[in-house]
Amino acid sequence: MLIRKMTNELFHLLSFMKNKKKMYMISLLGDSLVHASLAICIPFVFKDLTDFANSKDSALLTRAIIVVSGTFIFLSILSPLFSYLYHRCVKEVMNSIRLTVYKHMGQLSADYYERHHTGDTISRLSNDVHIIEQAYTEHLKTLLTILVVLLGSLVGMFLLDWRFSSVLVLLSTVTLFINIRFAKSVRSISDQMQRQTGTLTERLTDFISGLPVIKMFNLHNVVTKRYIEMNEDITISAIKQGHKNALLDATNFFINFLSFGGMLVAGIIMVSQNVIELGSLIAIVQQQMFVTLAFLHLGQTITVLQSSLAGAARVVEFLDEPVEPERYDLRREVSCETNSMIEMNEIVFEYEESCRVLNGFSLTVEQGKVAALVGASGSGKSTVIKLLLGFYPFQSGNIYLDGKPMEQYKLTEIRDIISYVPQEAYLFEGTIEENIKYGRLDASEEEIIVATKAAYAHDFIMKLPAGYQTKVGERGTMLSGGQRQRIAIARALLKNAPILLLDEATSALDSESEYWVQQALHTLMKDRTTLVIAHRLSTIEDADMIYVVEQGKVVEYGNHEALMLQNGLYANLYEMQTKVRERQNIV
Ligand SMILES: Nc1ncnc2c1ncn2[C@@H]1O[C@H](COP(=O)(O)OP(=O)(O)O)[C@@H](O)[C@H]1O
Ligand SMILES: [Mg+2]
Repeated sequence: MLIRKMTNELFHLLSFMKNKKKMYMISLLGDSLVHASLAICIPFVFKDLTDFANSKDSALLTRAIIVVSGTFIFLSILSPLFSYLYHRCVKEVMNSIRLTVYKHMGQLSADYYERHHTGDTISRLSNDVHIIEQAYTEHLKTLLTILVVLLGSLVGMFLLDWRFSSVLVLLSTVTLFINIRFAKSVRSISDQMQRQTGTLTERLTDFISGLPVIKMFNLHNVVTKRYIEMNEDITISAIKQGHKNALLDATNFFINFLSFGGMLVAGIIMVSQNVIELGSLIAIVQQQMFVTLAFLHLGQTITVLQSSLAGAARVVEFLDEPVEPERYDLRREVSCETNSMIEMNEIVFEYEESCRVLNGFSLTVEQGKVAALVGASGSGKSTVIKLLLGFYPFQSGNIYLDGKPMEQYKLTEIRDIISYVPQEAYLFEGTIEENIKYGRLDASEEEIIVATKAAYAHDFIMKLPAGYQTKVGERGTMLSGGQRQRIAIARALLKNAPILLLDEATSALDSESEYWVQQALHTLMKDRTTLVIAHRLSTIEDADMIYVVEQGKVVEYGNHEALMLQNGLYANLYEMQTKVRERQNIV
């Protein structure tokens, strides 16, 4: 069972090699053969030397010298050559594995990242990928060398004396059986350790990303405790693994000692009765030592290979995660013709089965108009935006963009015609200019400056020591939230897409930053079809149409005045917010 599983996984591991498989296998086998040739030849050399000591036949001495010199020359030229070849293969394959994994990362659906912790993904991409490399360069090579040595030595032994050899093979089979039994439990510990390493990386990324929260709430002890616990769990697993390995070594040593001693005694008796020659006995003892060592190593290699395979399995699992399709094939009746820029008809959507988030949601935004979504937290507003961006397929209903049903667009085409500004802007490692340029890679310097000025970002950028060349960190830590948001708006302006989606783009900002970001957003909204989710209703009073969302459905719609007249949910919300603002002003 374990062997079949291992063989399958080994083939899987090799399948990463693709067109390099042949080259890798040939050079690896070559290197193993060269190493094995030493183990196979040495006993025969000893036999020749012993026989020479007895018979004084100089031909035997010459043969021994030729074999030894030949083997060493063979080793010193061919081994480095093969070793270079397979290392080169491995490096090239690792390059392509890293690239495959990286590309896959970009093709996964938004859903994957909402279900998995960043730390776990990072651990799979770094730790587990590294483990695969170890398997290629070390474990597989050792395994092959062992198998070749075993095969060669066994043939040699049987040629020298088949009776002895049969007993030895029997003993070695027992050793191998015990080793495989051990490997099973070691594998389950390895699997566990790999998972634990993933969790440890999760804790680490949590620590780095959540540092301000940790400091503010004085959570240092709590998170450190969680880290210590995980770290201890890994240590316990590692110790358990060490314990199993030590036990295995002791058992192997005991069996080998018994068989070696037994063979020596039996051999001496046989030599004294002239059943076997002394030279042959010495050669067999040598061969047996190599066979024993090979079996011992085989057990150890199977054990370490287990952890590599556990790592590889986690990478395979990651690569098996479904990728986003080129377009959604919803196979739905497309009923109505529309000239609106955005139209959503009776959308039903659930993230998880039987947990409806949108329940017959409809909305229309005409070309160049601004529509706003308001409603309580959790009512489904952000979900509407995620569906428009094509992050998820929906269960029923239709979405039309620029008059065409969504199914007719590739997902990349949908994202080409939409600019999306989330609550918090993400800035990449690099300069401010690079970050803005991501909006349109072929934009000229003038175009960048025009966009940045329109986003009210030029002035503060020019005040920075390196201006547009200022480096911003992982999250643009040197800049304020409002400044980051304006850089993101400049990026969106440069993209110049006809549809604009804003998800509470100013809600994380203080009032002064909010003012400037609002100004920038007004420029961005000009001549574009905009759908905005607003936290503060005062910011969307001018919208052409306001949709009030409750439990995944539009319950009221109209412009500000009409909704105030209706005196419904919107009017209530608006009055509540006005009261809060007035109270804040008094304070
Ligand atoms: N990735 C997700 N998986 C499962 N449920 C989700 C996911 N994202 C949001 N939800 C749920 O969907 C509902 C609507 O969320 P959302 O659209 O973010 O609301 P809003 O933006 O109006 O606050 C909430 O109940 C939320 O818990
Ligand atoms: Mg939201």
